[in-house]
Amino acid sequence: MQASASLPISSACERNREPILQALLSYLIVDETQPQRLEHNRLVLEISSGTGQHAAYFTQHFSQAVNFPSLKSLRWQPSDVREQLAGIDLWRKKANNANFLSPIELNLKSAQWAPDRYDFAYTANSLHIVSWPLVLEFCRGVITTLRPGGLLFIYGPFNYDGRFTSYSNELFDSNLRHRDEHSGLRDFTALTEALCSAASRQGATMELQADIPMPANNQLLVFKKASIKSAY
Ligand SMILES: C[S@@+](CC[C@H](N)C(=O)[O-])C[C@H]1O[C@@H](n2cnc3c(N)ncnc32)[C@H](O)[C@@H]1O
Repeated sequence: MQASASLPISSACERNREPILQALLSYLIVDETQPQRLEHNRLVLEISSGTGQHAAYFTQHFSQAVNFPSLKSLRWQPSDVREQLAGIDLWRKKANNANFLSPIELNLKSAQWAPDRYDFAYTANSLHIVSWPLVLEFCRGVITTLRPGGLLFIYGPFNYDGRFTSYSNELFDSNLRHRDEHSGLRDFTALTEALCSAASRQGATMELQADIPMPANNQLLVFKKASIKSAY
């Protein structure tokens, strides 16, 4: 896809979009032999879409997946704070894919989360930008808005056991905190516990399905929501 000068561009997105897409695909494609799983057009909520380049690249791929109806019909709902929406919409118009929906405002400081609306939730490189209280709001909100059985994908760099996984991540964290003391890399365990606690307050569970190493010391975390009733 060619981008004109008027489109917002993130070079990080251009580097990471293909590895992220490949990692997502195995979770997004359903078993086509089970038609009951395709009874509605599945919907993905992207939180903090940024430029909109991930939405554009992923939906371009989905729209061409003629042999995978479950993927071709997948609708992608981008969202971000109000100031980002015009840029995302430029990418939407450029991409011209019906499954790339008009971006909606979703500010973690004041978000309204529609209950049980989305089959998937996705966010990339956002939880180290927003403050920890907003990470907690993210956890509460995505659990509310995911349908039971829905999957949550979180892409970005994380710490493990309180330690950086690389020197480059440590430098990145230091730059983030220098710019905003409330930013910074999140700890995998703290994030997982926050999701599990938020889920339990809503009568649900969030189970870690995968922690996938990605290029440049990033991870793709995959969680599945279940209601406590269906978990037993
Ligand atoms: C580093 S960018 C990541 C953008 C995109 N997901 C990507 O991977 O390129 C961080 C994003 O967090 C968003 N953000 C910052 N504060 C936010 C808030 N209060 N609610 C929702 N998103 C927020 C920014 O607008 C920006 O799009």
